[in-house]
Amino acid sequence: MTLTRRRLVQITGAGLGSSYVLASGLAQGNTLKNTSIQRDAYTKRKLYHGVAYYPELWPEDDIEGDIAEMKKLGINVARMGEFAWSSMEPEEGKISLDFFRGVMDRLHEAGIEVVFCTPTATPPVWLTHGHPERCFVDADGNVMSHGARQHASYEHPAVQKACIRIVKACAKALGDHPALIAWQLDNEMKAHVAEDFSDAAVASWHRWLKQRYGSIDALNRAWGTHIWSQYYQRFEQVPAPKKTPFLHNASLSTAYREFNRERIVDFMKSQREAIRAYAPQPITHNDNPAFNLNHEKSMEALDFASYDAYPTDKQWGALIFRSDFYRGAIPGRPFWLMETSSSHNGWLGNHQPPHPSDFLVAEAASVYALGGEAFCYWLWRQQRTGAELPHSAVMSAWNAPGIGYREVQKVSALREEWTPLLAGSDAIEADIAVTYSDRARAMIETEGLDRREGFPRRYRDVVAMWHDQIRSLGYHRGVRFEHAKLDGLRMLVTPAMPYVSSEFAERIIDFVNKGGTWLCGPVTGTRAEDHTVPTDAGLGLVDALAGVRTKFVVPLTNTDAEGEVFGMRVPLSGWAGATEVEGQADSKGKILTGVAKGLSFLTERRLGKGRIVLLSAQPHGDEGKALVNKIIEHYATQANVRHRFEVSDGTVVGPHRDANNKTLWLAVNMNGEGGRLRLPARSRDALTGEPIQKVWLTLSRYERRAIYPGE
Ligand code: GAL
Repeated sequence: MTLTRRRLVQITGAGLGSSYVLASGLAQGNTLKNTSIQRDAYTKRKLYHGVAYYPELWPEDDIEGDIAEMKKLGINVARMGEFAWSSMEPEEGKISLDFFRGVMDRLHEAGIEVVFCTPTATPPVWLTHGHPERCFVDADGNVMSHGARQHASYEHPAVQKACIRIVKACAKALGDHPALIAWQLDNEMKAHVAEDFSDAAVASWHRWLKQRYGSIDALNRAWGTHIWSQYYQRFEQVPAPKKTPFLHNASLSTAYREFNRERIVDFMKSQREAIRAYAPQPITHNDNPAFNLNHEKSMEALDFASYDAYPTDKQWGALIFRSDFYRGAIPGRPFWLMETSSSHNGWLGNHQPPHPSDFLVAEAASVYALGGEAFCYWLWRQQRTGAELPHSAVMSAWNAPGIGYREVQKVSALREEWTPLLAGSDAIEADIAVTYSDRARAMIETEGLDRREGFPRRYRDVVAMWHDQIRSLGYHRGVRFEHAKLDGLRMLVTPAMPYVSSEFAERIIDFVNKGGTWLCGPVTGTRAEDHTVPTDAGLGLVDALAGVRTKFVVPLTNTDAEGEVFGMRVPLSGWAGATEVEGQADSKGKILTGVAKGLSFLTERRLGKGRIVLLSAQPHGDEGKALVNKIIEHYATQANVRHRFEVSDGTVVGPHRDANNKTLWLAVNMNGEGGRLRLPARSRDALTGEPIQKVWLTLSRYERRAIYPGE
């Protein structure tokens, strides 16, 4: 039984302020099944500093020199294999991993550990030549060709079979190697491609729909298919969202995205199983929030999270966002930064500017500071051939130190300095977080947020915008997946999540009853489960949760709508829920002008020991931003959010509990402008043990400091 609005009003409506007791078995609707992976408790023993290594592309004679150079440079982990399928299996069925085992022997002798990757991102030509049906097809019907990456359709049985065969062969040949510390599945799955429209994918879509809806009648009801005579008689008639004269049904478009993004996770799980038949090492995947997969579910195939990021010095905020995102992805396991450039990114005809001096070491420091265990480069030696000739590397193609080499040396020095501090430590988890929902992403891709100057278009950028704002106020912050536990949090912000499931609502009620504050942001609640419009209330379950009646859901962008709260009057934009409070909630912010004049855009309701705050329109522009800051600060203070630093914007602090259970702060200036951090009395420099007398510690450009704060 799912949690209906009526039922929710019954259980939360009576005796506000009194504690809500969770009725057992109430909502079993849409929960992601908990992962079956048993992850043992993990202690970080050391920090890693690594490179992507492609010895198969160079003369064998170079290997010895490579390894000696890596060792000299303080590289302690190499990642290999992710594009090497044609070297491992040049002809179908003729597989040899001897070369890689030999390289691993030599790395092992030098004390360099190895992450081995399954090579399934680049199937050899024999798999797809003369077989267009095995290739990925995009929404316009373009069949991908051999020659780059991700051109095969993982839905095709022949592709799946060949992939699993090579994965098993790798695991069998290398799974007992003493250098091997982890596996990486594939490489950046769904980085270059999105939804697959091949025949194999469409057949799989029909199976997926059958599994999700059970009967075609259920699908027809959920999607309201008599609209425009879409009504289906059989699952096989349901189209993939290819070209139509106008637009597809929103339910279908969103479902097709979800189908593709879940299926790639199924593929990851089958690779995991294939590895597990022979090899026990932990498994990861180098992810990035931009990729077209279900990030939350993908963690079910992994033992630890890792990510790739190529920010320029101006984009350092993206690195902080990703570290926070992947720190929360698999609680208890430190994440890795699997790829970044030692200087600049580049591919044919494109390049970034090179990093300014000291930016790289600040990046590494921020990753370690926020709980990362590894900081790794793409790549060791500049590509001589291929499509990424302009990309920077630790060593040039002519095997001399690359432009970033001296910066890599600085990272090695940092790793050595910080390893004794961070071995056995745990990053302290934040008590304020922002929700990330894969379903919200799919819905917002189907139905874009409205165009507004100065406001992000993409879902993940909206999440990142809230994250950045919380960060700029000095809060240590996290990101929680939609289905993640809310333990340890005091405040959760959920922006732009159109569908609030009964399962999510239940967890919010529990969280709030125990003292948490839920700040429900604009657009949240505007759609129902199958990407339809809620018919029970304007914002679905949010109305009942927040104690409001939504009178209108109305677009305010480019209107004269202004709202006032906390003594500030600001423009409002975006799709807004214009509400009236019901009984137990208070209206805090009113819309003063425009079509929704007199209704509320900020309401507060006390429930149990906590609060539900509904911000149902976006405060716009610079004044709007100032107001959002005020709202965050006001409610974070009321919620007793503890981990906040008095620090200038552009400097980031990662708090840890070290091996002796002492609090350790790692502070890094990221914006290159220097910064300051207020310290408690009796703080000490963690490296020298010297007392720090100053109340305000100043950090110079990209400076890093390790501090034991005075208690
Ligand atoms: C990553 C990819 C690498 C390389 C790199 C270049 O996205 O995983 O293989 O292409 O980008 O920046």
